[in-house]
Amino acid sequence: AIYYSSIIFITVRLNVVFTCLPFTVCSVQKRSRKIPWYTINLDSAPHKRWNQLISDKKVEVTNLIQAIKNLANDFFPSGKLIELVDKHLNAVTAFLNIVSLFKVMHIAGEVMFFNVFYEIFTVCTSLVAEDTTGKLYHARNLDFGLFLGWDIKKHSWEIPEYLRPLTVNLDFQRNNKTIFKSTNFAGYVGMLTGMRPGIFTLTMNERFNIDGGYIGIIEWILGKRDGFWMSFLTRSVLENATSYAQAKDQLTNTKMLAPAYFILGGNRSGEGCVITRSRKACLDVWELDLKHGSWYVLETNYDRWKDPLFLDNRRTPAMKCLNETTQKKISLPAIYDVLSTKPVLNKLTTYTTLMEVSSGTFEAYLRDCPDPCIPW
Ligand SMILES: *[C@@H]1O[C@H](CO)[C@@H](O)[C@H](O)[C@H]1NC(C)=O
Ligand SMILES: *[C@@H]1O[C@H](CO)[C@@H](O)[C@H](O)[C@H]1NC(C)=O
Ligand SMILES: *[C@@H]1O[C@H](CO)[C@@H](O)[C@H](O)[C@H]1NC(C)=O
Ligand SMILES: *[C@@H]1O[C@H](CO)[C@@H](O)[C@H](O)[C@H]1NC(C)=O
Repeated sequence: AIYYSSIIFITVRLNVVFTCLPFTVCSVQKRSRKIPWYTINLDSAPHKRWNQLISDKKVEVTNLIQAIKNLANDFFPSGKLIELVDKHLNAVTAFLNIVSLFKVMHIAGEVMFFNVFYEIFTVCTSLVAEDTTGKLYHARNLDFGLFLGWDIKKHSWEIPEYLRPLTVNLDFQRNNKTIFKSTNFAGYVGMLTGMRPGIFTLTMNERFNIDGGYIGIIEWILGKRDGFWMSFLTRSVLENATSYAQAKDQLTNTKMLAPAYFILGGNRSGEGCVITRSRKACLDVWELDLKHGSWYVLETNYDRWKDPLFLDNRRTPAMKCLNETTQKKISLPAIYDVLSTKPVLNKLTTYTTLMEVSSGTFEAYLRDCPDPCIPW
């Protein structure tokens, strides 16, 4: 199923011809549509801490799961895929400690299906930048749902439409004190975007890799469980790492189920990097290098030593706009503008999160991309 998906992924991209790619006009945008906050109490039992959120978003989560199932059944009309996933993934649900949570919703097995989806269909842009006073900014666009049902009438992808109402900011607390914050989708238990205020900021981007990309996930489903889900590693780091160095160490050295990029920012000048991971090894750590003029690092979904796929170049326009902004003028609003520039902003973009570690600023905004806008 998953390989089938990657083939479609490539063909869809190659089949669409763009006439408007080569030029980038850096955008200026007003920030609006803030995302609501929920507090998650880490002192209460795992199956209780999500109650409020899930009861508020129950209808939306159920709608999304139904939409995903319909899409899966379009690819595999027999319904066999869902059956297989239900059968094998009960174990996963138990492992994730969310059984009781989803029993409330009567959807245990399906939920896992939906959690796996996030690990596979996410494309994003993330960056860490340092201003001339040494302040560190970290921001990301989350683009989700590639090729999952293009709605010709509405000119939009089906899945992001379902995800926008599920997008929430979470404040994870112990003893009534914030441990970390994250932008999340209700019902998803991994972390793609988060910050430990005052300490570090972290985002994860998917890394497509033909050899070994999804083998780990398939092995995991079939029972060989010695690696970490990528967005579980980020969650564990956000919850338990207490410094930039410790976070970096865990992100570079933990065995995972699939390749990924981790974008990590610390709280001191020069602490910012993109970690390129294969399942078992760290392939590259690209760090800020202020002495040599590198005041930002930026990652989309391609290795930095390779060219991006020519039909999906979000890297060059984002860098061009950062270069035009200059280090002197960099700020969260300026970064928001960079992330609002098409095609960095596209039809898949669900949210933009802006973080500033030292002040603890954490803001997220729902996005959509008015026409004319490219599908990814
Ligand atoms: C947290 O705050 C609530 C009320 O704001 C209080 O009832 C509770 O005892 C506090 N918990 C801890 C662990 O301090
Ligand atoms: C963080 O550490 C605590 C204590 O070691 C552990 O119980 C918890 O599961 C860890 N959290 C994650 C998300 O790994
Ligand atoms: C930066 O992080 C370190 C832990 O790596 C912490 O000890 C220190 O207090 C933090 N600095 C600030 C200014 O918050
Ligand atoms: C941005 O600036 C850097 C450093 O000067 C340069 O290496 C890079 O090619 C520039 N990128 C774009 C897209 O302008």
